[in-house]
Amino acid sequence: MDEKNLVDKALQARENAYAPYSGFRVGACVRAESGKTYTGCNIENTAFSATCCAERVAVYSALAAGEKSFTHVAIASDSAEPTFPCGTCRQVIMEFAPDACVLCANREGEFVSYPAKQLLPHTFMYKAGTKENIHE
Ligand code: THU
Repeated sequence: MDEKNLVDKALQARENAYAPYSGFRVGACVRAESGKTYTGCNIENTAFSATCCAERVAVYSALAAGEKSFTHVAIASDSAEPTFPCGTCRQVIMEFAPDACVLCANREGEFVSYPAKQLLPHTFMYKAGTKENIHE
């Protein structure tokens, strides 16, 4: 599966966005190590804090299907500029897809790509059950 294909799937997923409040439709597509792909779109709520971003819907959908590791996360919106993941999604990507390549696309499907680690340097991480932070 080539990267352009993942971006096209993200653009397609954007069509299912539920974004009546912001009007900003986002689509995402993650590719697991298994080779399978999972898509997501942003889903808003009248109680704004219940809104979920497209990337998280895609990553959580893949996790719920049993996937454990990922190679790519593609993101697209209606913007003429590439769409980058928000801070919360960067944190989620670092938890589940730290070795993934993040493809940030514009509405034409043109994209720039970054290693996830580069998008969230000095990520907040700690060793479970300890008082220790993990720094790379
Ligand atoms: N949004 C995403 O889906 N992904 C991001 O990384 C940034 C923001 C959504 C959330 C909300 O529905 C709309 O874009 C405007 O913030």
